[in-house]
Amino acid sequence: MEDWARFFIRTESLAVKSTPPPMPSVWQESADAIDLSPGRPTELSLTRKLPQSVKLSQLRDPDVRAQVMHKFWHHELSAAELMAWAILRFPSAPEKFKKGLAKIARDELRHMKLYENYLLERGYRLGTFPIRDWLWERVQFVESPLQFVALLGIGFEGANLDHAERFERMFRESGDLEAAGIQAQVGREEVPHVRFAAYWFESWTGGLDFSSWREQLPSDLGPNAVQGKVLSKAARQKANLSPNFLHELREWRRS
Ligand SMILES: [Fe+2]
Ligand SMILES: [Fe+2]
Repeated sequence: MEDWARFFIRTESLAVKSTPPPMPSVWQESADAIDLSPGRPTELSLTRKLPQSVKLSQLRDPDVRAQVMHKFWHHELSAAELMAWAILRFPSAPEKFKKGLAKIARDELRHMKLYENYLLERGYRLGTFPIRDWLWERVQFVESPLQFVALLGIGFEGANLDHAERFERMFRESGDLEAAGIQAQVGREEVPHVRFAAYWFESWTGGLDFSSWREQLPSDLGPNAVQGKVLSKAARQKANLSPNFLHELREWRRS
């Protein structure tokens, strides 16, 4: 499994990134911590430009929809890579935790395929639009499994629950039911990822509340960066984020 993780992160083959070999079920008994940065296939051009927020009126253009779906494909790739990265970076974390990361990585690979198929069916190949590796830029500096679940799981994947709901609605309103359906499925399947993060946060700290979570975020990235314009309260509560937690998250944004 560890070899697979290293290979998947480092490969510069787009074919392997999008369709890696099946994950082995054999794990090393002990391993040293390894910190890796991702290989990037030449087909993918990197940008430093900040992503723009997209309005409903723009989504009536199929090119803009493809661009958004391509961005989501890259988010799923980054998430899959970062799950593999955490397995290597925190080898002494509980086995159950590491196996959970591998299972989530498999979900992210499946999500990538949904986006990839959508794009290919419409004549857009992977790499048509530039990518910005901002998830990697943020998450690769966490120093513990606790910080990892706080930032990626409760933070970015939590925010993804908000974004998925919003984009599902916007795609539907723009008449693209297939894109809306993919958003609905991904949103549903991301709930257990956030729940997984909340579970481990609680088991390592004895309790998950807004202030204990905020303490684990990087100092230059506060709670506002990891929430959507509208909170998906139902999905977030299904992921075991309490009404109090969500209330304080929202109040933080307001203030
Ligand atoms: Fe995903
Ligand atoms: Fe996820």
